Parts: sequence; C-alpha cells; structure tokens
Amino acid sequence: MDRSPAAHTPAPELATHTTLPRPSPGPLIEHWPLDRGVVFLNHGSFGGTPHAVLRAQDEFRRLMEREPVAFWVESFEGLLDTARQAMARFVGCPPDDMAFIHNTTEGVNTVVRSLAWAPGDEILVNDHEYNACVNAAVHAASAAGAAVVTAKVPFPISGPEVVLERTLAAVTARTRLAVISHVTSPTGLVLPVERLTRELQSRGVDVLVDGAHAPAMVELGVAQLGAAYYVGNFHKWLCAPKGSAFLYVRPDRQGRVAPLTVSHGLNSPRTDRSRFRLLFDYVGTVDPTPWLATPACVPFVSGLLPGGLPAMRDHNCALALRGRDILAAAIGAEPPAPDAMLPFMASLPLPAHSPDREARLAARPTRYADALQDRLVHHWGVQVPVWRMPALTPRPARLIRISAQVYNTLDQYHYLAHALSRELARERTL
Ligand SMILES: Cc1ncc(COP(=O)(O)O)c(C=O)c1O
Repeated sequence: MDRSPAAHTPAPELATHTTLPRPSPGPLIEHWPLDRGVVFLNHGSFGGTPHAVLRAQDEFRRLMEREPVAFWVESFEGLLDTARQAMARFVGCPPDDMAFIHNTTEGVNTVVRSLAWAPGDEILVNDHEYNACVNAAVHAASAAGAAVVTAKVPFPISGPEVVLERTLAAVTARTRLAVISHVTSPTGLVLPVERLTRELQSRGVDVLVDGAHAPAMVELGVAQLGAAYYVGNFHKWLCAPKGSAFLYVRPDRQGRVAPLTVSHGLNSPRTDRSRFRLLFDYVGTVDPTPWLATPACVPFVSGLLPGGLPAMRDHNCALALRGRDILAAAIGAEPPAPDAMLPFMASLPLPAHSPDREARLAARPTRYADALQDRLVHHWGVQVPVWRMPALTPRPARLIRISAQVYNTLDQYHYLAHALSRELARERTL
C-alpha cells in the first residue's frame, strides 16, 4: 500500500487536522529499506532489517540454492557452528548451551511444553507478560491440571522493587516455574531479572526469562544470570532477519527440554555432540539464513554511531525518554515509570473517556488492536501501537508505546503528539 505523503488523501471532514507536515526520518534511515513516508515509531514489534544484513542473508540463500544437497549435508553444520560461536559470545553463554530458534514464542513454547507438569503445579507470570507466551503457559499447564498464576504489577509503577515484591508474594509451595520478561511488551519496562532470578531460584522456582527485546538493547550475560532458561530475539533490536532468535538452557536442565519438532537427532548414533545440540540443530528443512546472517548484525549495530553499541544504547534510551516527555506534555500525562526502567521504548496510558464512550470506542471495527492505531496509521501515517491493558490502574485503559531507534527524530515524536491530541479530541465527539 502506498502511504507516501503525496499519495495520502485525508478524509474531507478531517483535512484541517493535518496541520503539520509529516516529518522525515533521520539520516541513518539510509541503512534501512523502511518507507520514508511513514513515521515509523515501532521498531519494537518486528524490528527492521538493514540493507547490509539482508545482503549477507542473500549470500547465504544463494549458497544454499546453488546446490541444496551439498549445502545441507556438507556445509550447514559448520556454518551454523560459526554463527552460534559469534552469537553465544554476544549474549554471554557457552555455545554448547545455546540453540538457534525462530522466535521467542517458539522458545517459550519449547520450554513450557517440554517440562513435565503434575496436577496442582503452578507457573507464575505477571500481568505485563506477552499474551502469546502466557497462552503457551496456559496451554501446557491446562493439559496436565496445572495452573498459571498471575502476579499483579501496577502501571504506573514507582520502581523495580514493586515487581520484586509482587512477584515473590505470588510464589507458593506449588510454584515450579516463573516466566518473566526481561523487557515487557505492553509497558516497555526493563524488569530486575537478576534479582528476580536469584530470589525465585533460591526458593526452588526455575526462571524462564523472556528476553524478546533484550539483545542489543541490554548488555547480556546470559550464563552469569543463572536462569534455568533464557529466550531472546535477534530480529528485534539487533536487526536480524525475521526468524532469528535463541534459546539458552542451563546445562543441568538440558535433559528436560526438546524442540517442538523432533527430528533425526533423537536416535542419532553420533557421540561428538550433546543430545541438546543434536535435537535442536536440525528440526527438518527450514530457511536457516536468518540465523547464518545474524552475526553480520553485530558490526552493523556497533558501527551506527561513534562509540559503538554503548553509544547506540545511550542514544536510543535518551531519545525514548525525550519522545515520552513530548507525548506526555501533549496529552497531559505524568510519566508512569522511572526513567531508569525504560530502555528504547516508553508506554503512556492515554487519558480515559467516560466508561460509556470507552465501551463505544472499544467496539469500533479495527485492523490493529485499537481503532485509534488504525487512525494514526491510515490518516496520519504514523506507525505506533495502541492497546488496552487490563493491569492498568485505576481501570483498564489504553496505552500507546513509542520506540526509539537511531533513524527516529524528535520531530517525529512532536508530529505524533500533534496527531494524538487531535485524535483524542476527535474521539470526544464520537
Ligand atoms: C516480551 C515479548 N515476548 C515475546 C514476544 C514474541 O516475539 P516473537 O513474535 O518474535 O515470537 C514479544 C514480541 O513483541 C515480546 O515483546
């Protein structure tokens, strides 16, 4: 669909709303094939793969398709080992304890559906967890008469201690596993995973960290963290091709976990590789090029700004906070979380309408999670998520979550602030 400013024709009754010119992204957009006509403030959902990494992936694809049999039989294992060496170093774990997988949803499913649950067992989550991953836990638990218990973590939130308190208060003698986001999806909060892991595991509760957003955003030391399981996406903030993620399993837990797809590894006579490696490294014919191209992301993200990855992290954190402040000022909201809990993303609760109007607005037909997002995308050309979150206090309301990547500019957040104010005013007439 063409969403360039020239092709965009606002609905006649709303023409006066578009009083600001749509801002362009910053100069570093040259590295990405992103549509310059879209104000793209959602790197967080599906990442964005730069030209350099797509080229690296293309090379692997060409190699594979030139002679597919030789590729799989002779080359694949060595290429995968090389990519794993590089990425294990990047996330901070021994390569033998890490497997490439396609995405975090797959990784969470892999763990919760591998473990043997007994009736009465509990899996602990909190209400900022990603819906698909909670579903995976519910699915695995319900098949065995086990239960998923949800710790209530407020938003707005005063600090990481609240997460610790609420999580530990929800632990019972039956809690076997806690699934905890390193960085939460709806609220963009970095959770105190080091303290949570230590406290939970000292109470006999294994921790599965959902690190979907963490690689590149947060400095990782996965093995040192000590969690039984860690899953992370390379295809979000590290900018890998879609379908590149990793699963770390602590050596003492590797015997409990098998991939969702069991292939030749199960009865392989090989003794030169662990069972974990034989099971996970071949799960049938897939496109392995996202994994093989992922090491090319490390020099890419490190080369974006002088000062390397630490400079990119500082830049994106500062930009997300500036963006949040611009938006908060425009809609009269208080920042709902301390700055230190927000790397690269920031969510703001939107002012609530009357319950009747909220119900009417929630019932509007929508392609995105909320019709407000449809309006921001299709009328204003801004890509930014809006969703309803039951955990919000004092009552469920909508959140908007901005992302900050090096190609974003302050003008883009000002434009969103303008668009959002106009749309909230428009909603008050509906
Ligand atoms: C916290 C969290 N977990 C899991 C996921 C799922 O990631 P994927 O779609 O790559 O499986 C997301 C995606 O946004 C997420 O934010």
